[in-house]
Amino acid sequence: MKDVRGMTQLTVSLGERSYPIHIGSGVLDEPELYRPHIPGGRAAVVTNDVVAPLYLARLRSALAAAGIACVEIVLPDGEAHKDWQTLDRIADGLLAGRCDRRTPIVALGGGVIGDMAGFAAAIYQRGVPFIQVPTTLLAQVDSSVGGKTAINHVRGKNMLGAFHQPRAVITDVGTLGTLPERELRAGLAEVIKHGLILDAEFVAWLEASMERLLARDAHALVHAVRRCCELKAEVVRTDEREEGLRAILNFGHTFGHAIETAMGYGSWLHGEAVAAGMVIAARLSAEAGLLARADAERVRRLIERAGLPTDGPPLAYERYMELMAVDKKAERGSIRFVLLEGIGAARVAADLSEAPLRRALGQP
Ligand code: NAD
Ligand code: GLY
Repeated sequence: MKDVRGMTQLTVSLGERSYPIHIGSGVLDEPELYRPHIPGGRAAVVTNDVVAPLYLARLRSALAAAGIACVEIVLPDGEAHKDWQTLDRIADGLLAGRCDRRTPIVALGGGVIGDMAGFAAAIYQRGVPFIQVPTTLLAQVDSSVGGKTAINHVRGKNMLGAFHQPRAVITDVGTLGTLPERELRAGLAEVIKHGLILDAEFVAWLEASMERLLARDAHALVHAVRRCCELKAEVVRTDEREEGLRAILNFGHTFGHAIETAMGYGSWLHGEAVAAGMVIAARLSAEAGLLARADAERVRRLIERAGLPTDGPPLAYERYMELMAVDKKAERGSIRFVLLEGIGAARVAADLSEAPLRRALGQP
């Protein structure tokens, strides 16, 4: 991947809980980005056994250069470990390392590490500060921003969690150079999502730039990461706790979470499940008369060009319904869907009847 030094900074504006997102290549190594957020000279780094050999030494050096000592907690890799047992390992590592209420947690890794370390930060000694250092495309464009933290339950994805905003997000796009191809594509699903729900111009840019993104062109990746963070930061500023607008960020996720839960966590990557979920949700939007069929097809084609699945696994309609009823957007037994009203515009709808849902799922 070509090096892009130019660092760019955004702010997630949430009053006294506002925080910066630093985006650039090599920012992982910048002591000055960590120093203001770790005033006590100690931090706990949470990462996994895939990311640690790649980036832990660099993070440790940057922290040491800022005069910060660290406790290191290295977890097993994978969505299948985003559970109570692993959360307990974090708690154990924090207690064994004598971390106190002023010891920030630094999450180094993808969305699984960010979500779990963030949840640990939300509940450890009733809440400690944390910093996100996302190393997957998905985490850089989505999960590291906005303060949603969680673990999974066998009955439902992300069912146990808390809102807990980070103090800073340090996004080194250089780390994407080691990301497996399949993970890069999974991250593109969330990139596409931000465009589809909020920014038609960005969708047109994605259509024109998909090959460059897949080839990991650094300028294209920085643009995509920055635009997604801008879009998401504005939604989070408006509706931090998902009382309204923020629900649109779950476009494709109602079907996607059902696929992930049904198939067993880690079998379909989160981004792959969301990709298939977005195609189904776009078809449903067309069935509901909100989206032109040609635009639903445009969604499918873009997702296909990103090398992502455009259909779910062969689950029965009844199984989808059973799983989606556990979704966090379900209210008083009614499943709520995020639908497109056009490319770049989304809304939440409830009480859709069986026939359009069956057609969207390809099960008439
Ligand atoms: P992940 O964290 O499992 O990372 C994917 C894989 O890449 C893992 O094997 C990881 O160890 C490895 N990896 C990470 N960085 C690497 C690098 N630079 N080089 C090589 N390998 C690397 O998965 P993900 O796609 O990052 O995140 C998915 C999770 O994020 C899901 O659990 C999903 O629910 C969650 N999520 C949360 C939010 C939120 O708002 N909190 C939003 C979207 C998704
Ligand atoms: N990924 C959905 C949200 O952050 O609200």
